[in-house]
Amino acid sequence: MIGVLVSGNGSNLQALIDAGLPISGVAANRKDAFALQRAREAGIPVAVFGLDCHASREERDRMMATWLEEHGVEIVVLAGYMHLVTRPFLVRFPNRVVNVHPSLLPAFPGLHAIEQAIDAGVAETGVTVHLVDEGLDTGPVLRQEAVVVAPVETLEERIHAVEHRLLPEVVRSLINETATFATTTSKEIS
Ligand code: GRF
Repeated sequence: MIGVLVSGNGSNLQALIDAGLPISGVAANRKDAFALQRAREAGIPVAVFGLDCHASREERDRMMATWLEEHGVEIVVLAGYMHLVTRPFLVRFPNRVVNVHPSLLPAFPGLHAIEQAIDAGVAETGVTVHLVDEGLDTGPVLRQEAVVVAPVETLEERIHAVEHRLLPEVVRSLINETATFATTTSKEIS
C-alpha cells in the first residue's frame, strides 16, 4: 500500500490515482491543499498534520508515520510535499520514501527548479524520481528523464507531463520489488 504526502495542487497525486495504484492514505501539512480534495473524491482517507498542532517537526513526523502505518502504508510518495521529512519519519520507512523533482538532480534542488534552469540558460533540464534522505532533494536517484528547455513558454507543462508518467511507473516497480522481496523472504522462512 502507498501513502502520499502533499502540500498543494496534487496533480502528481492525481496521476498516481489515475494509474490505479493502491493508495491507502493521503496526508498534508496544510488543510487548504487542493490535493486533499482530489483524495476525498477518490475515496482515499486523508489527514492533516500542520506544524501548528505539534511541539516539533520530529513530533509531527512521528504522528504522521504512525497514521500511515495504521493505514497499511509500506511506500511513501512525496508528491509536491513542501516540507523536509525528518529522521524519525525516515527510519519508519527505510529506503521506501520517494520524491519527484522538476530538474535533473543534483542540478537545481529546492523550490524554484524550473525557473532556475531557465535563468541558468541550460539547454536541457528534466525530472528526477529519487529516494528521500534528510537533505533537500538529495538521496539516490531512481529514474531521470531529460526535457529540452525551449520553448520556455511550455516548459512547465512539459515537465509536469513527464512527472505524471514517470512517478507512477517508478512507484509501480517499487511495489513489485517490495512484493517480490516479501514473497522471497516468506519462502525462506517457511
Ligand atoms: C511538482 O513539480 C513536483 O515535482 C514538485 O512539486 C510539484 C508538485 O505539483 N516537487 P503537484 O502538487 O503534484 O501538482
